[in-house]
Amino acid sequence: MVDNDYQFLIDYIKKHISIDGNLYKERPFKRRIAVRMRYTDQKSYREYLEYLRYNQAEMMKLKDTLTINVTRFFRNRETFDFLGDVIFKDIVRKNQKVRILSAGCSTGEEPYTLSMILKNFFRNSDGDYEIVGIDVDADAIEKAKIGIYSDYSFMELKHSEVARYFKKSGQHYILDEDIKRNVDFIIMDIKESDSLLTMGKFDLIICRNILIYFSKDFQESIISNFHKILKQNGYLVLGKVEILTGYVKDMFETINRKERVFRKIDY
Ligand SMILES: C[S@@+](CC[C@H](N)C(=O)[O-])C[C@H]1O[C@@H](n2cnc3c(N)ncnc32)[C@H](O)[C@@H]1O
Repeated sequence: MVDNDYQFLIDYIKKHISIDGNLYKERPFKRRIAVRMRYTDQKSYREYLEYLRYNQAEMMKLKDTLTINVTRFFRNRETFDFLGDVIFKDIVRKNQKVRILSAGCSTGEEPYTLSMILKNFFRNSDGDYEIVGIDVDADAIEKAKIGIYSDYSFMELKHSEVARYFKKSGQHYILDEDIKRNVDFIIMDIKESDSLLTMGKFDLIICRNILIYFSKDFQESIISNFHKILKQNGYLVLGKVEILTGYVKDMFETINRKERVFRKIDY
């Protein structure tokens, strides 16, 4: 009985905010729903579903809780240091134009961090780059496109970097147009294989702190799609607590275990 109510609730959520609970790990997904149920004082999945039907604002809050947009510039800086010092050098040796996909880019801090590094990397050469950020959350993508941030996003930024890349305006910081120029954003669910597979080929895909929420099967299908849209010897970067599991493990060689950097193996 309770399970039926849960299924009705996740069907409703999927229909209204396009988040498919069936693809996520069940326990953490239920835990996040429980957070909102406690907050709104709803005692069962059925009660909470009724509450959602008449409360659009709650639907938006639930969406925020389920998607968890937490991110910041240079999150886990050592990973970006490794990309800057080692990986980009290798990519640039083979390509004049570097193409990067940031999957689950949230409000843009991750792709913009890469843009800062690459802008610096190419400052004395005529190399070029394009970064595409995708996320299922339309509000996050809207914020990313605007490129205005608050202190929270700067936890791992040095003062000199804030001064270099942002203009302060009241409580907010406006990102330099030069960093924004090479970055595009698209609202896209990574489960939409058709859209993903028509994006062209990438030198590097960074997908951090999102796979952990998905079931093992779904993780495998995403990674397998990433393998298809990576160029020969292209790189995959995962979050610090994420690993390659199942059959996709054999599709990549580990380049740096600590920084979760892998290279595509071609068949
Ligand atoms: C915790 S944030 C990670 C942001 C960034 N990658 C980082 O590590 O700082 C996870 C992001 O994944 C997005 N996300 C969750 N499910 C998704 C899906 N099915 N397709 C695309 N993005 C998704 C969320 O909207 C959220 O913005």
